[in-house]
Amino acid sequence: MSYIPHEYWVSHGKTYKKEFRYNKNFELQEKILIDYLKWNVSSSSFSTVLELGCGFGRITKLLLSNFPNIMEYLAIDLSPDQIENAKEWSKPAKGQVQNLTFLVSDIQSFQIQKKYDLVLASEVLMHILPSEIEEVMRKVVSMSNQHIVNIDWYEQQPPSKAAPHNFIHQYEILYRNMPEVLNVHRIPIVKRASWLKSVDTKQCLFHATKKFDK
Ligand SMILES: C[S@@+](CC[C@H](N)C(=O)[O-])C[C@H]1O[C@@H](n2cnc3c(N)ncnc32)[C@H](O)[C@@H]1O
Repeated sequence: MSYIPHEYWVSHGKTYKKEFRYNKNFELQEKILIDYLKWNVSSSSFSTVLELGCGFGRITKLLLSNFPNIMEYLAIDLSPDQIENAKEWSKPAKGQVQNLTFLVSDIQSFQIQKKYDLVLASEVLMHILPSEIEEVMRKVVSMSNQHIVNIDWYEQQPPSKAAPHNFIHQYEILYRNMPEVLNVHRIPIVKRASWLKSVDTKQCLFHATKKFDK
């Protein structure tokens, strides 16, 4: 079956949250994301966040509860159903003020006037068609004034078969080819507790930082 991204995600967005099951992979992914941001990206260096493809708000809620210094958070997704679910999932507790806004939009047609300290996309870029990834990543980088973090499927030796909506893109190369990018780090989301026990999500966290505008 051919993969038509917009159609696929609008349709899948209707049932995504109901079908989502937390497991050890998601727990590890979330822990590594939060630990990485705490220890490698000073929380004082990001007070505005743009999240792309927020789904039902899993990462939105996680970030807002771990980084109370966030002053402004904009989360977008192309699926109206996912955005409705995200509004409910990340609803602030009574009395808690949150500068959180949701918007239905895909990355490709999204227009903004400002840049955000941190632009984040968790499990979104892996669903962008290979023919579009370079342009989409240029746009993602252009929307940030400092940090870009994406979490996506990555294996050194990709399997010969993959689901039609999943792609392994060469994120490090794509970032490094952009003159405004200063550094890129790739952190495998893997935990080896012993030879017998391990959690390997087959994902990596990619962190690009931009050169300061002169
Ligand atoms: C696998 S889900 C991940 C959701 C969430 N980021 C998370 O980690 O739980 C992918 C999400 O990206 C959204 N998406 C896919 N392509 C997109 C695009 N081009 N622009 C905006 N959202 C997109 C889908 O609608 C879906 O909600």
